[in-house]
Amino acid sequence: MININFAKTEHIQLISEIELNEFHNEAYSYNTLSDMMKDNYLLKNNDNIFEISNDDDLIGYIIFHISDDFTDIFKIFVRDNDKRKGYATMLLNKVIELAKRYNSKKIMIEVRSNNNNAISFYIKNNFNQISIRKNYYKDPIDDALIFERSL
Ligand SMILES: CC(C)(COP(=O)(O)OP(=O)(O)OC[C@H]1O[C@@H](n2cnc3c(N)ncnc32)[C@H](O)[C@@H]1OP(=O)(O)O)[C@@H](O)C(=O)NCCC(=O)NCCS
Repeated sequence: MININFAKTEHIQLISEIELNEFHNEAYSYNTLSDMMKDNYLLKNNDNIFEISNDDDLIGYIIFHISDDFTDIFKIFVRDNDKRKGYATMLLNKVIELAKRYNSKKIMIEVRSNNNNAISFYIKNNFNQISIRKNYYKDPIDDALIFERSL
């Protein structure tokens, strides 16, 4: 059965490996991910990881931070075999629902300007590009596009 929940401790190793493969020098390490899990009873003003899974099988995850002013999405990932099935939308909607419940006003993300798949995903989900940070990413150098959606 498909479920969205806090990431399971036993999936942190797998998530850290996905981070390295997918995000290279922007990867969250095993230790950072473990630290994020420690206070996961705190949904507000805290980094959190939710996973979407089929029973115990990890399909994808979202790393986010909810505060009063705005909610940040740090990472969103869905494994290749399960892309374009609406799973990232489900993860995003879960965070949006919580962010609204905690009175956050905006949701923001930062994305490499060459990540066309992610950009299409955010535009489809009603985000608007509000700014650009030139040469923000290294190895390879790339601009960061900042997208925002009101809640
Ligand atoms: C971006 C990502 C999370 C999308 O996950 P997903 O589960 O495939 O997304 P969804 O199925 O919910 O897509 C919803 C809509 O977004 C758009 N979209 C998603 N992936 C797309 C793609 N590869 N090309 C074009 N549009 C895309 C489409 O409009 C899609 O609706 P449709 O399938 O009905 O056309 C996934 O491609 C991914 O994990 N990418 C690698 C990690 C990454 O770059 N993350 C973002 C930066 S942190």
